[in-house]
Amino acid sequence: MLTIAFVKESHPDEHRCALMPSNIKAYKLKGVEVLIESELGKSLYLEDIDYQEAGALVAKNRGDLLNRADIIFSIHPLPIEDVKQLDNTTLISFLDPFNNPEYLDLLNQQGVTSLSMEMIPRISRCQKMDALSSQASLAGYAMVLKGMSHLNSVLPMMMTPAGTIKPAKVFVIGAGVAGLQAIATAKRLGAAVTAFDTRAEVAEQVQSLGAKFLEIDLGETGQTAQGYALALTPEQMQIQKEQQAKCIADSDIVITTAQLFGRKPPRLIDKETVSQMRPGSVIVDMAAESGGNVEGSVAGEIVEFDGVTIVGTGNWSNDVAKNASQMYANNLFNLFSEFCNEETGEFSLDLTDEILEKSVITHGGKTVNAMIIQHLQKGAQ
Ligand code: NAI
Repeated sequence: MLTIAFVKESHPDEHRCALMPSNIKAYKLKGVEVLIESELGKSLYLEDIDYQEAGALVAKNRGDLLNRADIIFSIHPLPIEDVKQLDNTTLISFLDPFNNPEYLDLLNQQGVTSLSMEMIPRISRCQKMDALSSQASLAGYAMVLKGMSHLNSVLPMMMTPAGTIKPAKVFVIGAGVAGLQAIATAKRLGAAVTAFDTRAEVAEQVQSLGAKFLEIDLGETGQTAQGYALALTPEQMQIQKEQQAKCIADSDIVITTAQLFGRKPPRLIDKETVSQMRPGSVIVDMAAESGGNVEGSVAGEIVEFDGVTIVGTGNWSNDVAKNASQMYANNLFNLFSEFCNEETGEFSLDLTDEILEKSVITHGGKTVNAMIIQHLQKGAQ
């Protein structure tokens, strides 16, 4: 019988986990054994007994789990010392495969088959397993709360006998999954919201949430077949920076969510523009951990520059760890279910299937993913 194992996340301050007790029944119905590491759900106030009562087994220790697992599901990549103990196991997690060549080498050395959750294609068939979207949407919500908690004023308009408070101005740059949720959240909290994205088609979505779309004529921009933005030329980037500067200076909270798939995020705000903001205002840089949309943001930290608080704490969906775990755990189950052979209960690894072709990174001791191979070759040139 196939054993699917769930490790406790080793990443510091991580509260999420990859399995909720409510998912276990569905796994069992597929004819697989569910094995967990003790305290898997501790930071969500879930006890081992909650998982056991739902049908999971608890491993004696981490080594026992690594030894018994056929497939290991997690959020972050499994730590190197754990990977060294594996033999022909399948690992499924976020892997950051564009930036982790040594890790991929290790996976290949150990004969590990790996599937990277961020590489699942953005097609309709995959929406239920799209962990980038499920986590980004919660990140959008969490970033507004983070921004708000560092502002010394309220978001909504308040008309009181003691005077009228104007609504706070929130500017969201990048209106993809996270940005749209940030816009919706800030609107619900009563802020006056403006947004910008290089993909022109997004304007309508922004307006339908009741926010204003900042019009900037960048000429031709475009997107990939998967809906990802293409990088701007240096000239276009300059136009964007100049034309958004006034809106930034006038905002109480700026939330940046701009990403470019497989590349470093674009640097959208420089220190000069930050200095033009009113002291006491706040910037939340979603991309701080991967290079930053904002000059001066620091990964994992909250810093102040010229009186402006710049929040770069990252791992945003971890702030709402319960819902983030529910969504991620469902994404994993849906992925497993899609490729589970109903008769044998095995995970069928058909690399000609579009989803697996795009998301499996290593297999049979080799890196097999065309996009990653191309990326690594470019890096080596
Ligand atoms: P992302 O995380 O790669 O980027 C976030 C946003 O930043 C994007 O909207 C992008 O256009 C924007 N951006 C990039 N450079 C920028 C710049 N210089 N200034 C302002 N904004 C900039 O993208 P995300 O949020 O993961 O998804 C983007 C799109 O992918 C979605 O809006 C949708 O069209 C498509 N998608 C499709 C799915 C499907 O199943 N069909 C699922 C999820 C997303």
